[in-house]
Amino acid sequence: MLSNKIAVIYGASGAIGGAVARAFAREGARLFLTGRDAASVDAVARDIVSEGGCALAAQVDALDERAVDTHLQSVIDSEGRVDVSFNAVGIPNAQILGVPLIDLDLTHFEQPIASYTSSYFLTARLAARRMIPHKSGVIMTVTALHSRIGLPLVGGYGPAMAAKEALTRNLSAELAPHGIRVVGLRPQGMPETRTIRDAFEPRAKASGMTWEQWLEFLASRTHPRRLMALEELANMAVFIASDKATGMTGTTVNLTMGSLDD
Ligand SMILES: NC(=O)c1ccc[n+]([C@@H]2O[C@H](COP(=O)([O-])OP(=O)(O)OC[C@H]3O[C@@H](n4cnc5c(N)ncnc54)[C@H](OP(=O)(O)O)[C@@H]3O)[C@@H](O)[C@H]2O)c1
Repeated sequence: MLSNKIAVIYGASGAIGGAVARAFAREGARLFLTGRDAASVDAVARDIVSEGGCALAAQVDALDERAVDTHLQSVIDSEGRVDVSFNAVGIPNAQILGVPLIDLDLTHFEQPIASYTSSYFLTARLAARRMIPHKSGVIMTVTALHSRIGLPLVGGYGPAMAAKEALTRNLSAELAPHGIRVVGLRPQGMPETRTIRDAFEPRAKASGMTWEQWLEFLASRTHPRRLMALEELANMAVFIASDKATGMTGTTVNLTMGSLDD
């Protein structure tokens, strides 16, 4: 589905970035994987190459405009274009969750909003500049259901996710006339990921639940009464990045399995 598509992934050593990279590679994409830590992103690239995929790793801080720009230019210099930009950057939840809003200081409130929106803005804008001459491309990212429902103890994370979804719509309004689609993915929590454990374990403990009971509680809020697998999210990412999804732009795909109505 992604044969010979040139895809750049930011945060590629993370749970979602890595799963999307592997799924993109299986579908024939040529991958340029980036992350803050060179060794971790290199490990993902080597894994993909050992399974017959095509992936190159680079150390890129997705909040550093010059680093993102230089890396993208190197992709253009070698491949001539970029077809897909996927921002899977995630900030450690320990830095942003768990403090009641009335006790939260401004710096901590602003941190996720500034980091999430800035990295998405930078990676999207710099990719779009390279996509416009080719009149094609797909810009993607990930959010969470915190964008749309009130949840306690999430600090600036909910506003950050809502802002990213607004940016997806606005990027699309400007870029779709140039043939560029902009689509977000809003998955339900995936228990295989460390992120979910870090985010929810303190709340499970505070509620007197074991981790397994907490997962059951989260699953009970979905229609199929189960949580999502990383592979399911990655498969959806493949479809959205592919030419099968040319009818979709300016939106965030609701993958919360019924726990959040449209
Ligand atoms: N996991 C889930 O179930 C789930 C569900 C819904 C939404 N989400 C959202 O999806 C996003 C990714 O989640 P995840 O579970 O994949 O998180 P993750 O495993 O923590 O991965 C995040 C990745 O982003 C990288 N990163 C952080 N800051 C960066 C920067 N400035 N430049 C480049 N890379 C940077 C991290 O690298 P370092 O290791 O070097 O920091 C890490 O590799 C988050 O926004 C998360 O809230 C996750």
